[in-house]
Amino acid sequence: MEYYETLILAIPAFVANMMPVITAKMRIAEKLNSPIDGGRTIKNKRILGDNKTWRGLVSAVMGACVVSVIQYLWYSITASAQSDLWIYSSIARAIFFGSITGVLVIAGDAMGSVIKRQLNIQSGRPFIPLDQTDYMILFLAGTNFIVSWSGNQVVFLLVFALLANTLSNITAYALGIKNTYW
Ligand code: CTP
Ligand code: MG
Repeated sequence: MEYYETLILAIPAFVANMMPVITAKMRIAEKLNSPIDGGRTIKNKRILGDNKTWRGLVSAVMGACVVSVIQYLWYSITASAQSDLWIYSSIARAIFFGSITGVLVIAGDAMGSVIKRQLNIQSGRPFIPLDQTDYMILFLAGTNFIVSWSGNQVVFLLVFALLANTLSNITAYALGIKNTYW
């Protein structure tokens, strides 16, 4: 397995995971800034909480699609090994891969929130290592029917996500971009 190519396959997922934070920080499309769970509860606890919004979902799908299309265009120009992959063999397939990646990333992140709320962990409070890996778990599971991830790739991407998210959060905290270190 090429670690480099594995990482490239996961870039749409990394970007999808970052998009909600960026659009929230920049206050883009405030109209979509409403909670997906609409305030509903399970066992008197919010299903997802206020921090899981429609804006996050829409921006993640758009971000992942843009990255996938750029990757497709890049591979078709350079005729690299990646252009042999089914998901990058046409622009429609690249958009398809980007769309499901955005939905899977947000669904995985939301599943993490469901677990946190039921465990009485408030929105925005940390739950390591679930926060760093929830989106990657569902992305890998949901794209397996087209990518056929190997065991090595799964372990590599989960460890990478854990380390990369931890490191970037600590850096953003140190630089004053984020208020918390998680
Ligand atoms: N976000 C969003 N919509 C989503 C996911 C995230 O608007 N579907 C935005 C919110 O502003 C959120 C931020 O991105 O505060 C960071 O996301 P994340 O760390 O995943 O959420 P938490 O604030 O930690 O909330 P939770 O405890 O539910 O994980
Ligand atoms: Mg989270």
